[in-house]
Amino acid sequence: MNDNRQREEVQGMRVSTLIRNIGQLVTMAQEPLVGASGQLQIIERAAIAVRDGIIVWIGPDAPVVPDFLQDGSSDADEIPIIDAQGMVVTPGFVDSHTHLVFAGNRAEEFHLRRSGVSYGELLAQGRGILTTMNATRNADAQTLLASARTRLSSMQRYGTTTVEVKTGYGLNVDTEEICLRLMAELNIVNAMRVVPTFLGAHSVPPEYKHRRDEYVDLVVNEMLPRFAGLARFCDVFCEREAFTLPESRRILTRAKELGYKLKVHADQLSSSGGTQLAAELGAVSADHLDHATDADLDALRNAGVVATLLPGCSYTLRSPYPAARRYFEHGLTVALATDFNPGTSYCENMQMIIGLAMSEMGMTLEEALLATTINGAKALALQKQIGSIEIGKRCELALWSIQDYHEIGYHFGVNLVQSVLLA
Ligand code: NIG
Ligand code: FE
Repeated sequence: MNDNRQREEVQGMRVSTLIRNIGQLVTMAQEPLVGASGQLQIIERAAIAVRDGIIVWIGPDAPVVPDFLQDGSSDADEIPIIDAQGMVVTPGFVDSHTHLVFAGNRAEEFHLRRSGVSYGELLAQGRGILTTMNATRNADAQTLLASARTRLSSMQRYGTTTVEVKTGYGLNVDTEEICLRLMAELNIVNAMRVVPTFLGAHSVPPEYKHRRDEYVDLVVNEMLPRFAGLARFCDVFCEREAFTLPESRRILTRAKELGYKLKVHADQLSSSGGTQLAAELGAVSADHLDHATDADLDALRNAGVVATLLPGCSYTLRSPYPAARRYFEHGLTVALATDFNPGTSYCENMQMIIGLAMSEMGMTLEEALLATTINGAKALALQKQIGSIEIGKRCELALWSIQDYHEIGYHFGVNLVQSVLLA
């Protein structure tokens, strides 16, 4: 949009907040922005005007508030001004894949794996996800809520403003529902956007071990219709140790009919067909993809599915990291997320994920920043609302205590985010 048009549209509009003295505004704008440059569309010394949480103007910081931001009835002095103190400002991180609601932890299994027992072996022994399922079923809702809030606050301190959260540690109607209702509550309590995903097909619970078809029936016939108003996405762990390809297809097909958007835990531990299924059903994202073949990745690209890579799992499981160039060469939109969960990635920190993506996956800083903001938003079908700093989007920002965004990934092991700001 050119500057004059911006002025005309903002003219006469009451601005509720002005954010000034931004040292470096890393917008990630998807359309060229006046005064911005480079792959990340950066404006040096910028200001942002916000009205009712929506960005209405982006421009150079000036010693006086621009006239055209006045509505005539108010004085420039009346507009609340936030001083960004010369900091770097980016969109808040969009963490598009987490399993944040659960009880207990699995430190013991983590150390067992260090001594050679595999994740798959533990799962086959009824441990892994099922250890957490037991703890979660036995926890009361208040305990689950309190721990989830603590984790969300921790994510927020590291710069995250939107989090997708999956169920999948209840694995019965009651506990799955409790977890989904908690997510709705978390949305309000923490002033952080929580996007709920139903992952009833995370593991077959022990009571259905010898009648797994009946568990799939339960998911399809009872859980999916019942949770349609509570969850925005449906996800399936399509894997040898979890749900077969036909089971996954059955669950996701029904979910789609009921209006859920789809995600797939695809080809994480072995090549299981989940990536092709995500393409076939038009999922919003396919996640993990460590064992996806070239043909799988082509199918994803052709179907416009976002590829979500989760290096926290490679770090924890000490398995090979996905090579980012391969996914880019297939023309994919790549998102990065924490996969925060007690088994394979006990990490709230998106800055750590950026560091791993750069040092272990061969991503550039710019690619990693796009993957954790706008591409995370695409992985949640929220790219019209969040993920970049553009007119018409929500003002959800991370303020960094650094002079230049190039310090991200370079200065590691510390928190470089000073705060997040939802104006
Ligand atoms: O994304 N793969 C399945 N789900 C999680 C792990 C969950 C767990 O181990 O508790 C994942 O890696
Ligand atoms: Fe996961």
